[in-house]
Amino acid sequence: MPVVIAREGRIAVVTIDNPPVNALSQALRQDLFDAAESLDGDGDVDAVVLICAGRTFIAGADVNEFGKPPQPPHLPDVVSRVERAAKPWIAAVHGSALGGGLEVALGCRFRVATASASLGLPEVKLGLVPGAGGTVRLPRLVGAAAAVEMVTGGAPVDARKAAAMGLVDHVVDGDLRSFAVEFAQDVVGKPLPRPIADRAVAAVGDGFWEAAEKTVGAKAKREIAPLRALACLRKASEASFDAAMAFERETFLELRGSPQAAALRHVFFAERAASRPAELAGIASRDIRSAAVIGGGTMGAGIAAALRDAGLPVILIERDTAAVERGLANIRGIFDAAVKRGRLTAEAAAARMAGVSGGDDYRLLADTDLVIEAVFEDLAVKHAVFATLSAVCRPNAVLATNTSYLDPERIGEGIAGPERFLGLHFFSPAQVMKLLEIVPTAATAPDVLATGSALARLLGKIPVRAGICDGFIGNRILKVTRAQAERLLLSGATPAAVDAAMRAFGLPMGPFEAQDLGGLDIAAFQRQAARARGETPFAPVADRLCEMGRFGQKAGAGWYDYADGGRTPSPSPVVEQVVAELGDGKTRRHWDEASIADAIILPVVNEGAAILRDGVALRPADIDLVKIHGYGFPRWRGGPMHHAEQRGLQAVVEILRQLADEGLADPPGQGLLQAAAAGDFSSALAQ
Ligand code: NAI
Repeated sequence: MPVVIAREGRIAVVTIDNPPVNALSQALRQDLFDAAESLDGDGDVDAVVLICAGRTFIAGADVNEFGKPPQPPHLPDVVSRVERAAKPWIAAVHGSALGGGLEVALGCRFRVATASASLGLPEVKLGLVPGAGGTVRLPRLVGAAAAVEMVTGGAPVDARKAAAMGLVDHVVDGDLRSFAVEFAQDVVGKPLPRPIADRAVAAVGDGFWEAAEKTVGAKAKREIAPLRALACLRKASEASFDAAMAFERETFLELRGSPQAAALRHVFFAERAASRPAELAGIASRDIRSAAVIGGGTMGAGIAAALRDAGLPVILIERDTAAVERGLANIRGIFDAAVKRGRLTAEAAAARMAGVSGGDDYRLLADTDLVIEAVFEDLAVKHAVFATLSAVCRPNAVLATNTSYLDPERIGEGIAGPERFLGLHFFSPAQVMKLLEIVPTAATAPDVLATGSALARLLGKIPVRAGICDGFIGNRILKVTRAQAERLLLSGATPAAVDAAMRAFGLPMGPFEAQDLGGLDIAAFQRQAARARGETPFAPVADRLCEMGRFGQKAGAGWYDYADGGRTPSPSPVVEQVVAELGDGKTRRHWDEASIADAIILPVVNEGAAILRDGVALRPADIDLVKIHGYGFPRWRGGPMHHAEQRGLQAVVEILRQLADEGLADPPGQGLLQAAAAGDFSSALAQ
């Protein structure tokens, strides 16, 4: 039974015990409803405390019921039943009261919470609006402005902030249950506040809703749920309670069936699966209590900052004392920037920095649990680093390389204890980007792989297992994107049109502006290496631009011109000239936004299918996560593989065939054809 009723004198204590997170399953909804009915009829009860067992209050809907037809009793009816109970209910919150959990608490007459509790309505993050009165009751309790922030942003608030805004009546320092029971005894016989449903939303100033629409709309871009949530809140303030409830329900049900909600659910489940990979179930990870980073450049500094953000002490090793100082300054620069942006207090930044020590003597690492190498992308340099690490580190210390393109099998040659070695590929800036590609070699032990996943969780990152190939998953796909972008130019599109189309698709930046920002030199260097291996990477325009020193923003010129060292791109006549010289003119065609997006994204899908077929990615959803968390692919589209399945894989095959006929993409490969025949990627290609 998920609900148990106990007595403390004339107070009933309703305890929900539905592990792991007291999710609102059908059985729990029924039990809560029944509890409200039976306690109403119980003459020995004056008030009711609603509390949860385990680590949290009701943390939300039951994910097992996501996307399925709702079964009665429906949550709005349960919340109303609690709200209309003859005795006052007091919600006693610890852990998280999220989504339906907070809506149940809003049905109670009072809310008390532990200081560490957080409360929120995160539905927009799943492409939804709250569905059980959240948008209708919250503004009645805390006012429209605070409700707009909470509901359209989806971020939870902590208990103190909740108390300051009137969402919580008391923040509890001692034992939650005993406080809540005393609180209940105290309110008995006193005049009670009206149920929230019977209150009105406090009046807002002229133009409030129009201004909110602008701000929320600008932030949401093409995501639909935030503006729909705002419309619900507006209805709640302008119409009757019942009309607003009906409007919210209608909006909820409509969004639940929307492609965006399906995409966001897909990503939610993909993240859960990637964070705790089934293939590593039951395998204990190694203890990681201290870490070291070798190399304090762009990546090393970011990785060190990420490790410190997670609370691990960090040792930075560089080549010499001057380089150590530069590396430490790079790390300090990251924390200083966080202070400037208001993300970190000056004290917190100082504490983060205090946990970093530096040196050029590898013997400092004799006791370190995890070492991540981020030195130059040069096999000989990396070999030398790992030879030293083999000699100085404990035999069970985990050793990782952050290489982008070198083969970890080669880097790992000669390491003492090769089972403890793996690739941990971070994305730049490493303290921000959530993706962590985990790249085992043939020798990597399962518990070392499990340690990689555990590290990702500790750092708040999403681990994706990648097999060894040039570029692993993310950079292998990036090469396709860049090649496609050039093909578009050579067939009549302009950099500005391609970038605009990709922004319209939902990416934060188009491929050309992204290259100008990051610099064209690194990719040029990689193409050089590829050519030395006998490969033939396609980048005729980029090659020419690099010959001309047009390396991007830092050079004042790249795919665009940048006047006076500025960052504002303007179309470049030089690039136009280069494109005209290189393009054969025969395949020039008209490109609109949709056809540009197809010509960039669908070849990515084709490559994704090849990556699955090669076993470099285990699951199609992993490729989606790589694109979302490493490259800014819009989450609400669910990633390229999900996007392609929504489009229909046969249709994708057809478009690729047409592009291939015009010489504008590779033809659909075996992986994609197999998936199209099977109807989806998972049944055809998942490992
Ligand atoms: P970087 O050039 O900014 O930094 C490399 C640092 O390593 C320098 O500070 C250098 O002094 C230090 N170093 C060189 N040899 C050393 C040695 N023997 N012992 C100690 N320190 C040494 O390079 P970046 O961009 O940070 O790249 C580092 C690694 O990360 C490379 O393998 C790169 O492929 C990889 N990577 C780079 C990404 C990027 O976006 N820059 C993204 C993901 C991986």
